[in-house]
Amino acid sequence: AVAGARSARAAAAAMSVFVTRRIPAEGLRVLSQASGCRVQQWDSEEPVPRAELLAGVAGKRGLLCLLSDRIDREVLDAAGPDLKVISTLSVGFDHLALDEIKKRGIRVGYTPDVLTDATAELSVALLLSACRRLPEAAEQVKSGGWTTWKPLWMCGYGLSDSTVGIIGLGRIGQAVARRLKPFGVKKFLYTGSGPKPERAAEFGAEFVPLTRLAEESDFVVVTCALTPATQGMCNKDFFGRMKKTSVFVNTSRGAVVNQEDLYDALAHGQIAAAGLDVTTPEPLPTDHPLLSLKNCVILPHIGSATYATRNTMAVLAANNLLAGLRGEPMPHELKL
Ligand code: NDP
Ligand code: DGY
Repeated sequence: AVAGARSARAAAAAMSVFVTRRIPAEGLRVLSQASGCRVQQWDSEEPVPRAELLAGVAGKRGLLCLLSDRIDREVLDAAGPDLKVISTLSVGFDHLALDEIKKRGIRVGYTPDVLTDATAELSVALLLSACRRLPEAAEQVKSGGWTTWKPLWMCGYGLSDSTVGIIGLGRIGQAVARRLKPFGVKKFLYTGSGPKPERAAEFGAEFVPLTRLAEESDFVVVTCALTPATQGMCNKDFFGRMKKTSVFVNTSRGAVVNQEDLYDALAHGQIAAAGLDVTTPEPLPTDHPLLSLKNCVILPHIGSATYATRNTMAVLAANNLLAGLRGEPMPHELKL
């Protein structure tokens, strides 16, 4: 009887998981319906406090986390040696201490592909909002600034005949280019870790150094991963090279951009406008200088925020976690 109880306890521990936030119900259902899976959840719209994260993960086999949870050595130590799988509800994984995770033999699942369309769509929406000044114009309607049709009023920049530079021609970067092409873009440039001719062929895109991309693009769209190499990549030198009429869009991670340098570039007319879906920090304080600028459109990290996409991400994250716990191949495992 003692041995039976012990093995029942071991089986339960084998499928114990901590979920760090309220997630779409479909995802949670996958976990709660899995045989033997015991779910503990921080059931809130708000981030799990650090102390609750450290306590919640203790002794668990699996962790389903978000991009806002910093999973570092402290969390891994708090989890202890039983932690076998981390599944993040995101394609970005810059919040995970991968070296430490790898050292401990922990597997990682993530959510590529399923959010590519939604994020590319939002990138295009943000680009158009910034270059055609949509929030500023809509505000004029409400404030009475719209007095008549004026030939010189509320003009912006269009995509027709333009050069678009994509920083990171990955899944999302390609999907952005695919959507922008029919607007009449004349030329695509891209940069990354090296030329990707098979990806670039569809757009006739040319691989160029970052400096040339900055100098020649009318629109710069940042869709790269945040890495040590890309951190702070869009800085004073970068913005200084951009055209005064150019528009900068970032839907990757806030830390790719030096925000003080971006502020200066926008405030002093070094570039025409910017659209940011991601910032440092998140949320951006409401008194942040960037928010005082009319030529900067800032969104609250909503790239993947369609109902369908978030549901699919949650189901995928849950299935990644379960597959990892069962020692099976994950639908999407990050190769460490
Ligand atoms: P991919 O891995 O497909 O693409 C990442 C790209 O980053 C690759 O093309 C890679 O280029 C590029 N890259 C890496 N190093 C550099 C470098 N030094 N200079 C320029 N580019 C570089 O990922 P996804 O397209 O699926 O996602 C990209 C990022 O978008 C995610 O990591 C995440 O941070 C962000 N994201 C944001 C969302 C939002 O809500 N705003 C939603 C989803 C994702 P190469 O191929 O040449 O190595
Ligand atoms: C990601 O997945 O990395 C995004 O930032 C949110 O969907």
